Amino acid sequence: MQGRFHLYEGYSLCKVTFPVRIFKLLGVETLIVTNASGGLCPDFKVGDIMLIKDHINLPGFAGQHPLCGPNDERFGIRFPCMSDAYNKDLRKLALEISQELNYTNFVREGVYCMVSGPNFETIAEARMLQILGCDSVGMSTVPEVTVAKHCGLRVFGLSLITNKVSLDYSREEKVNHEEVLEISKMRAEHLQMMVNTLIARAHLLDEGINVN
Ligand code: HPA
Repeated sequence: MQGRFHLYEGYSLCKVTFPVRIFKLLGVETLIVTNASGGLCPDFKVGDIMLIKDHINLPGFAGQHPLCGPNDERFGIRFPCMSDAYNKDLRKLALEISQELNYTNFVREGVYCMVSGPNFETIAEARMLQILGCDSVGMSTVPEVTVAKHCGLRVFGLSLITNKVSLDYSREEKVNHEEVLEISKMRAEHLQMMVNTLIARAHLLDEGINVN
């Protein structure tokens, strides 16, 4: 996809996730998602690439969930399991690739949290998310991943840390969209390289070939 639809743009989550079901019908087996996010984990730096290990669906807690409504059995079951949403083998392979490419000083793993946006977080909200176990926060991805998992797609996700989320009332720096775009541009080639290498090798996992 070239870009995506966001909840904050006013699209329903049904529309946001519609392309994922099209992929399924086209025979796609693996969904690779990327996004920009704010870093909550104190160890993260701007420009880090976080392999998404798990997520928190905060809008889902409030009833904004793409699978609400009648379940379409053609795609998946009513109560899908989400405990293994992000494929372990693909994450392991991505970690190995990041070592080979000498990316280890900026590749991390962590938990992504979705908020609806469009405003960035207050300091109190950011502190709450950190206490909840979130390593980064952004305004996308979770609905698509949820629908992908529901219909049996294998999922791999990368989150680029474009800014540090402010957790301290004494900090003067303010997050802005330009910073997010600038860091995304700076890391675009690294991200592309990781994804390209992953795609080139992912089929070896299916064939049970040792990828080392
Ligand atoms: N918060 C939410 N979404 C984001 C951020 C952030 O700090 N940075 C990039 N997307």
